[in-house]
Amino acid sequence: MQGSIERALEVLAGGCDSPVRSGWSAGMPMFVQASAAGAYAYDESGRRYIDYIMAYGPLLFGHTNPELVTGLDALAKGGFVWGTTHAEEIRLAERIRAYLPSMQRMRFVTTGTEAMMSAVRVARAFTGRSRIVKFAGNYHGHFDLALIDAGASAGSGGGGIPQSARADVLVARYNDLASVDEVLAGDETGFAAIMVEPIGANMGFVPAADGFLEGLLQRARRAGALLIFDEVITWLRFGLRGAQGRTSVVPDLTALGKIMGGGLPIAAFGGRRDVMAVLAPDGETFTGGTHGGNPFCVAMAHRVLDLLEAHPEYYSQMDRLARRLAGGLREIFTQRGLPYTAVQQESVVDFKFRAGPAAQNYDEACSADRAAFARYCAAMLERGVLLAPSQNEVMFLSTAHTAQDVNETLAAAQESL
Ligand SMILES: Cc1ncc(COP(=O)(O)O)c(C=O)c1O
Repeated sequence: MQGSIERALEVLAGGCDSPVRSGWSAGMPMFVQASAAGAYAYDESGRRYIDYIMAYGPLLFGHTNPELVTGLDALAKGGFVWGTTHAEEIRLAERIRAYLPSMQRMRFVTTGTEAMMSAVRVARAFTGRSRIVKFAGNYHGHFDLALIDAGASAGSGGGGIPQSARADVLVARYNDLASVDEVLAGDETGFAAIMVEPIGANMGFVPAADGFLEGLLQRARRAGALLIFDEVITWLRFGLRGAQGRTSVVPDLTALGKIMGGGLPIAAFGGRRDVMAVLAPDGETFTGGTHGGNPFCVAMAHRVLDLLEAHPEYYSQMDRLARRLAGGLREIFTQRGLPYTAVQQESVVDFKFRAGPAAQNYDEACSADRAAFARYCAAMLERGVLLAPSQNEVMFLSTAHTAQDVNETLAAAQESL
């Protein structure tokens, strides 16, 4: 009888649906999961792992939170997908806009990729231009131009992306406005949009430095281009007002995804009323989708917002736990004379095998020791801790993680390091 990995390799391309899962970028065997509950993933032998992948971000409440997973039969009886506009979808858009007023008009889609791809189309239609400024190490999904110099997908080689897509992309360095000016030199007014993760979480954890987002807005304004915030990870991970709630910078367009569906696939893009007016039937630009705004996923998104509104303490609870985890890692580094830095912001913790202060951009993030990270990941897995097998990822905590989980994680890290 073949094992699951062999069977997966036989019928799934590369053995998986998303390359990072294969373990390739950390030189690890693929983790085949059998089940999940709370903060834990279980393998096929029934062994429990403390899960810090959390499905690459969506599981702010852990796996199988009762508030999200009960009563689904009743929901399903109403139908999964209608293909029509409905009251709960309108109410969801109103709720989102109350927290993210920059999203004056929005549209629901299924994945973060679709949300960003659609936002880029809208920006191009509105400006009548095609060039896009993006940042090395940011990841916006797997549509053509987004993959150029992206984090998360790094190492895949870029096959299938046409030269014409490359010609339309200007790649700058994160947290480096001079590099933005450099890529714009000679073409100050020829681009449609700057797209950015307002808090970077796909090259490890790299928050925007003071003044960076303001500088991007200034440059976009000067050129008559738009600013697109990719809040697919950050909205709800960093509160109901997301990353944009923490800066005076108001983006023209925003993409949402991941946590908003509580694990189900729902995403959104939206922004300025005049900009979104390019979309048909008002305008001449098309986006659409069979599953966009389906009542099942919309109901789950309401549950997610209900939970967060009912439990404002969740954020401070996760912050306390993550602080303890990052603090514990720092203590281990000090005890062992290791020159690494653990970064933490609310429920996100990250460290890589790189001396000196935390990385500010993708060049710095890439200078970390990949081989050491791979050995660490494997050693942590042996000790019952599941980390994302890639240097570009971070540790996501959830409301399901406990102090005991953090203690076990630190004990595993002590040994692994
Ligand atoms: C910031 C960001 N934008 C967009 C995406 C793409 O989202 P999806 O995987 O749902 O297509 C991701 C996925 O990791 C992401 O991290």
